[in-house]
Amino acid sequence: MLIPASVSDYRLLAKRRLPRQLFDLVEGGAYEEITLAENRADILAVRLRQRVMRDVSNIDTTTTVLGEKLSLPVILAPIGACGMVARRAEAQGARAAEAFGVPFCLSTVSICSIEEVRQATTAPFWFQLYMMRDRGYVRALLERAQAAGCGTLVFTVDLAVLGSRYRDVRNGVSPTAPLAARIRTAFDMLRHLRWFFDVAIGGRPLLFGNITDAAPLARDLAHLKKWVDEQFDASVTWRDIEWVREIWKGPIVIKGILNGEDARAAADVGANAVVVSNHGGRQLDCAPSTISVLPRIAEAVGDRVEVLMDGGIRSGQDVAKAVALGARACLIGRAWVYGVAARGERGVTEVLDILRRELKVTLALLGVKKITELDRSAIESADSQDRLFARHHSD
Ligand SMILES: Cc1cc2nc3c(=O)[nH]c(=O)nc-3n(C[C@H](O)[C@H](O)[C@H](O)COP(=O)(O)O)c2cc1C
Repeated sequence: MLIPASVSDYRLLAKRRLPRQLFDLVEGGAYEEITLAENRADILAVRLRQRVMRDVSNIDTTTTVLGEKLSLPVILAPIGACGMVARRAEAQGARAAEAFGVPFCLSTVSICSIEEVRQATTAPFWFQLYMMRDRGYVRALLERAQAAGCGTLVFTVDLAVLGSRYRDVRNGVSPTAPLAARIRTAFDMLRHLRWFFDVAIGGRPLLFGNITDAAPLARDLAHLKKWVDEQFDASVTWRDIEWVREIWKGPIVIKGILNGEDARAAADVGANAVVVSNHGGRQLDCAPSTISVLPRIAEAVGDRVEVLMDGGIRSGQDVAKAVALGARACLIGRAWVYGVAARGERGVTEVLDILRRELKVTLALLGVKKITELDRSAIESADSQDRLFARHHSD
């Protein structure tokens, strides 16, 4: 039996438990998965500067994001259809996040509805929006989220159209998939008995909680893709954020920024924060890794908006690197999905615990007592590091 010590171990547990189609759906990226791989490789390439003899007997990992206090600079990223990998996964994730003192962000295309997550929690959670063609529908969604007490809105801007993922096509997650692929997938689902009874039967993840109109279409993942293609609005521009701003009372976070120009445009339309994100390598393949563009984006916006980052965060050490390079906090996507798929709410708590322990040890060995004091001086400025961040000059 595998005793999990790291987030990678939770990945292995999730892989064992999930049907291939679902594991690949979580794991995969767009086209050749270049960006997906570079998100990890570039974080691993960052070298840290050890400092010694600095009294690190007390380490403080608390911080604030948009005025909210976090026990750890980590936010659970919005994950569409997450309730397919664990029973009512969004409610479990939100509960774990609340107990841990970090924000949970619910996806527009979640299995649990806004109201179900509200019932499962007592603290406000964040809500993520995809802009749909039917603005009346979007308005109603935003009103539901505000009525449920959601304070922060994450507006995802990097999915004007859905990125193409070869793994999904091969696994039959496509409206045009051949019958043979669909039959193979159905058998594989039946073979994963624990998942089948606990999640497929027990959790009934066949409806998308917030998009009930799409229920007839939402019979399977292939239909979700079709629905996204039909409903998501590819004509969105910055002016639509102004429209959202009129409806949404709380802070607005723009997720999916990869250069200083777009970050400044987000600040110009009144966003409160940006997430440097390439959607976990799932949208534009060969877009830069997030860690490589983070310092320039942080420089470009200065204090105008808070800068968050996601993509490839799998350890507390990765969190430290991102914060040192200019992120106020990180969103974790796959890391919490592995936890919830492997062990439900407990798995998410364990993943968060691992991140906190690793972050504390890293800070101590960097000679930094408080996460809020961590800065670029914790990064080795060897030539190789400068090359990593000099790759993107566009701004
Ligand atoms: C299975 C899966 C579903 C996702 N669904 C959404 C979504 O509904 N909305 C969104 O804004 N981002 C979505 N994302 C992107 C994540 O919010 C996040 O940006 C990304 O996972 C970060 O990279 P990481 O997984 O390497 O941590 C999804 C990512 C994955 C892996």
